[in-house]
Amino acid sequence: MVRHGSTPERPPPRAARLGEIQPFHVMQLLNRARELEARGRDIVHMEIGEPDFPTAGPLVSAAVDSLHRGNTGYTPAGGLPTLREAIAGHYAESSGVDVPAERIFVTPGASGALMVAMALLLDSGQRVLLPDPGYPCNRNFVRHLDGVPVSVPVAAETGFQPTLADLERYWHEDCVAAIVGSPANPTGTVMALSQLAAVRDWLVARGAALVVDEIYHGLTYGVDLRSALAVRDDVFIVNSFSKYFGMTGWRLGWLVVPPGYEGAAMRLAQNLYIAAPTPSQHAALACFTLQARTEFEARRQLFLERRDFLMPALEELGFGIPARPEGAFYIYADCGALGWDGATLSTRLLEEAGVAITPGLDFGSNGTDRFVRLAYTSSLERLHEGVRRMRAWLAS
Ligand SMILES: Cc1ncc(COP(=O)(O)O)c(C=O)c1O
Repeated sequence: MVRHGSTPERPPPRAARLGEIQPFHVMQLLNRARELEARGRDIVHMEIGEPDFPTAGPLVSAAVDSLHRGNTGYTPAGGLPTLREAIAGHYAESSGVDVPAERIFVTPGASGALMVAMALLLDSGQRVLLPDPGYPCNRNFVRHLDGVPVSVPVAAETGFQPTLADLERYWHEDCVAAIVGSPANPTGTVMALSQLAAVRDWLVARGAALVVDEIYHGLTYGVDLRSALAVRDDVFIVNSFSKYFGMTGWRLGWLVVPPGYEGAAMRLAQNLYIAAPTPSQHAALACFTLQARTEFEARRQLFLERRDFLMPALEELGFGIPARPEGAFYIYADCGALGWDGATLSTRLLEEAGVAITPGLDFGSNGTDRFVRLAYTSSLERLHEGVRRMRAWLAS
């Protein structure tokens, strides 16, 4: 019989930074939506940041085949050489740029890529500039390394993307990097390559680096977006198989590092996670086949149809969409004119209309309480139903 000791005299250890890592409001909302569904309520989901399609057939077959062939061990830390080459080929084709495979690191999701990028750049106490509103996890990748996330308010007039003047206002000599997203979450807005080049030049002149999160590349509508690598070779590029390639649960992404960082990135990959998941890497090899690409394009078309339905429908309901979303699968909508703040509107719409959306508060503090994010990751029929319910609820 094991006897546990008496009550310890001092509380168990707990990292101080934990207090600064906030949960997402949307998680609470999602849990509540699931609870309501378990009780038989029908909920229209417009809060979820992942494609509603299952992973494309050729990818699943490739993973299963590779498992049957016994590919169940670790891969090299940087990823399967064939996959790194395939990603390099993808840049050549989609952005007309030659990226050596040695600079491409296959990671556990874009999340793993962000973790490695921050570990390459950041020492304790150093700062990283982050557009607000923006992807909320970025500040925690910085905090996790005892860095200081610096929120840079960005305006609707500039598509919620940072200008040099925005960055200048928050610049400090301890800044080592800025992370921007294009297309961005939660706004779906893109940054012109010329602007990305200007931001990179501005940062490099001050001894800092630009990290561009291109996770929503491929999911653009009416704009032909090339990678930032097409204009500058020495930016850090974060990307993923999660969104365009529809593989969220497979946990696979990649990081492109500037020349000179290859050795350090390899050491970090070896030590932090050994390698990205092997079956997922074999599945990802099939992403670049004609059959899979045809499927991805068909899905992109569906997202486009959904955006083109939802945007005017929301405006008709009285939401403001101050910056046109040209990518990803999000609409960042101002609900101020409706007389609601985003958090109350999200809660009430869920409870009273059965529509789940995300409050803007999850994406920062720059006027975000006036906003909500709607994800068009449900079928067109369900989006119609969601709009119908919102219209009826607002009218009552
Ligand atoms: C902007 C952005 N970056 C990174 C991620 C992380 O993606 P993953 O780790 O699934 O590749 C997400 C997920 O929603 C995202 O929206």
